[in-house]
Amino acid sequence: MSSHKPVRIAVFPVAGLGTRFLPATKAVPKEMLTILDKPVIQYAVDEARNAGIEHFVFVTGRNKAVIEDHFDLAYELQDTLEKRGKTAALETLSRYQPEAGSTSFTRQQAPLGLGHAVWCAREIVGNEPFALLLPDMVMKDNPGCMAEMVNLYNEKGGNIIATEEVAWEETHKYGVVEKEEHDGPGFRITGMVEKPAPGTAPSNLFINGRYILQPEIFEILEDQEPGAGNEIQLTDAMLKLSKKQDFFGHVFTGETYDCGSKEGFIKANIAFALDDSEIADEVRREIQTLT
Ligand code: UTP
Repeated sequence: MSSHKPVRIAVFPVAGLGTRFLPATKAVPKEMLTILDKPVIQYAVDEARNAGIEHFVFVTGRNKAVIEDHFDLAYELQDTLEKRGKTAALETLSRYQPEAGSTSFTRQQAPLGLGHAVWCAREIVGNEPFALLLPDMVMKDNPGCMAEMVNLYNEKGGNIIATEEVAWEETHKYGVVEKEEHDGPGFRITGMVEKPAPGTAPSNLFINGRYILQPEIFEILEDQEPGAGNEIQLTDAMLKLSKKQDFFGHVFTGETYDCGSKEGFIKANIAFALDDSEIADEVRREIQTLT
């Protein structure tokens, strides 16, 4: 048994404007765009559930009410499916139905940045460590990145940031960690740099959108001034917290798709389609025809 306070709660910031997907995201949140038959947000929730998370907190914004509907019980639909004997469809619905009382929703009233979105969850999370998953980053692995991070947290405690290797010449596009020399699981993070100038990155490990954070981050976010892009940046607050608490890095080796970008979203759709035995052959044939 771990001596560290368990990670029971996950926060999903879903209040961004999704401007890269306009006009699709004018009325539909980007988190509800589908990869195959599931909305993007469902992949992150499934990953959190696989990691043993019990409570799911969504930081939403204007035009995002449909996310709440997605995780609610669809009584009329269920009733109709029952009357028509559609057992398979009913099973699909119940497989993804969160337990009553296991979801919370709060609103970020203006998209002031990721750090501000996380801060909006402070009253719901309370004084507990929590998982933070950016749903745009869709991960294809079993049991998943967050489950690996929870294992590491149970061993080490502190704060955990998931990273992934990227080619050195690509590091300027990402948030990158600075780390202790020795390699291996659970290395100590000594710094973080957002989009380092080419040739200056302290490592080739980028921060991939999965975190386990201690609740003291909220006190720091409370006073955090806007940073890059005039947004309240989570990285700035984590840097301050790292002066007082341990930060450990995990290297995730599964596949990740940045579904906040068009190319990442299309790649994710292809990858999940090729994994689906019902349609894989036809999709593969079509790709061959097109290329
Ligand atoms: P992004 O910057 O990738 O999302 O934020 P965005 O702003 O919606 O996308 P574009 O660039 O306009 O297309 C990363 C994550 O942080 C959330 C987003 O919803 C996304 O999950 N976020 C960002 C918020 O919840 N609030 C914010 O103020 C900013």
